[in-house]
Amino acid sequence: MHTLEDVNKDRLPQHVAIIMDGNGRWAKQRGKLRVFGHENGVESVRQTVESCAKLQIPFLTLYAFSTENWNRPKIEVDTLMKLLVTALKKELKTLHENNIRLKAIGKMDTLPEKVRKELEEVIFKTSKNTGMTVTLALSYGSREEIKTAVQQIATKVKNNIISPENIDEAVINTHLYAHFLPDVDLLIRTSGECRISNFLLWQIAYAELYFIDVFWPDFREHHLVEAILSYQNRERRFGKTSEQLN
Ligand code: IPE
Ligand code: IPE
Ligand code: MG
Repeated sequence: MHTLEDVNKDRLPQHVAIIMDGNGRWAKQRGKLRVFGHENGVESVRQTVESCAKLQIPFLTLYAFSTENWNRPKIEVDTLMKLLVTALKKELKTLHENNIRLKAIGKMDTLPEKVRKELEEVIFKTSKNTGMTVTLALSYGSREEIKTAVQQIATKVKNNIISPENIDEAVINTHLYAHFLPDVDLLIRTSGECRISNFLLWQIAYAELYFIDVFWPDFREHHLVEAILSYQNRERRFGKTSEQLN
């Protein structure tokens, strides 16, 4: 089993994004309710955040709740929201200890008042931390993010603040929820599903994808290390030839 020591510190991904999937199936395997899986997923979040902080990865983004997840049974959604509030309250200390700044992306006005308040508080209280940035994707959907950006840009065009010729990739990027994040270098999805599920479509244009057949509550540091080692063994060509790079 590999450890953090095996990771090449000179070739770290700058932005790791994770689709934390498989909580429900993990619980079902144990004859428990789906929410039991979500509860146990919190420990995986804590450990992953700490491991990334140890490695000094600058940006970690976690997909916690999608725009599509609102369509789940109300009882599951309510429990997830409650769990979020508890986790935020509890983890503030861990965030400070690791000099971590918390951020969020998504349609914040759709979150229950209690969640939004707690989130805003933790974001504010950690805003002066200078280490890693941990971003929670909450009520997040990439198409919704892009749609909102298009609306904002269109309004600016209408009001003569910007002209259509000047809309470039950088302009689009500044209007996205994730404008403060660099492109994703490594995208990890747990649970064995090999899909993106509406996550960071713009930002993963050139990300290395890593799918692992482990349910999120079982995801541990050595799994993260394997993902990073896989990333470090890949040649990122960005359209060029191998010869051009070497
Ligand atoms: C991921 O686990 C957590 C959320 C989407 C909130 P799931 O709840 O999707 O678990 P599975 O995929 O049904 O096993
Ligand atoms: C993606 O997982 C969303 C999160 C992990 C928060 P889902 O379990 O909702 O994805 P699908 O519906 O199986 O694609
Ligand atoms: Mg799932």
